[in-house]
Amino acid sequence: MLVVIKKDYEEVSREAARMVAGAVRSKSRIVLGLATGSTPLGLYKELIALHRAGDLDFSRATSFNLDEYLGLSASHPQSYHFFMKQNFFSHVNFPPDNIHIPDGTISHDYDAYCERYEQSIKAAGGIDLQILGIGRNGHVGFNEPTSSLASRTRLKALSRETVEDNRHSFANESEMPKCAITMGIGTILDSRRVLLLASGRSKAAAVARAIEGPITSSVSASALQMHPDVTFIIDEDAAYSLTQRDYYRHVLEMTHIFTPERLS
Ligand code: PGA
Repeated sequence: MLVVIKKDYEEVSREAARMVAGAVRSKSRIVLGLATGSTPLGLYKELIALHRAGDLDFSRATSFNLDEYLGLSASHPQSYHFFMKQNFFSHVNFPPDNIHIPDGTISHDYDAYCERYEQSIKAAGGIDLQILGIGRNGHVGFNEPTSSLASRTRLKALSRETVEDNRHSFANESEMPKCAITMGIGTILDSRRVLLLASGRSKAAAVARAIEGPITSSVSASALQMHPDVTFIIDEDAAYSLTQRDYYRHVLEMTHIFTPERLS
């Protein structure tokens, strides 16, 4: 794993955008795995700026979002469909037909729907580059603690901590969805490359457990230790509890010299 520690959130966003833009430029038909939440907002802003400057073309790209709340339609302001449109898709030239986000309005045959989502990822050639945030409880997507490390896209009950972290966006707690449809950890591990972004002291414990802790379903992000091409891009606050920072810096220096393509 590569651990890139940046000064603050702005630098994390710029570095992530540089890597995503590099990947899109080197493969125009790229399949991106996209995330929502406050963390990737800066990345999306940077990508939009690059697109507006004429430096980034998404016209042949495809995307699959990680998750969506169950029970929210695409027009609901707290839905992840709405989030993606507002914060990214309406500002860039992504072909609408190539955008995939789990449908939060399904009300039956959940397993069959989720299997179709998995099949459409496969049909697109698999995810080339997956963007992730991380929850305070170590979740990626909505793979809450104790999610199977082999899980695929499915319906998932949200944990108490996730409800607490996200309910501020809803008028009251009763409106906060209790479940979501999320790609599984197995789905995420199948992607060719993963970028996990984290910022702030509230993420420090989860980041340390993901990178330096044992692989455990109690911290879904720890499963990334089994992936061959993961880069954590985190700020100083999120790196606070890591014990091997000097080594990560050394690894990065060597990577720049010997395998710079891993950082491009
Ligand atoms: P955040 O959420 O980016 O809003 O902190 C991350 C997550 O829960 O995966």
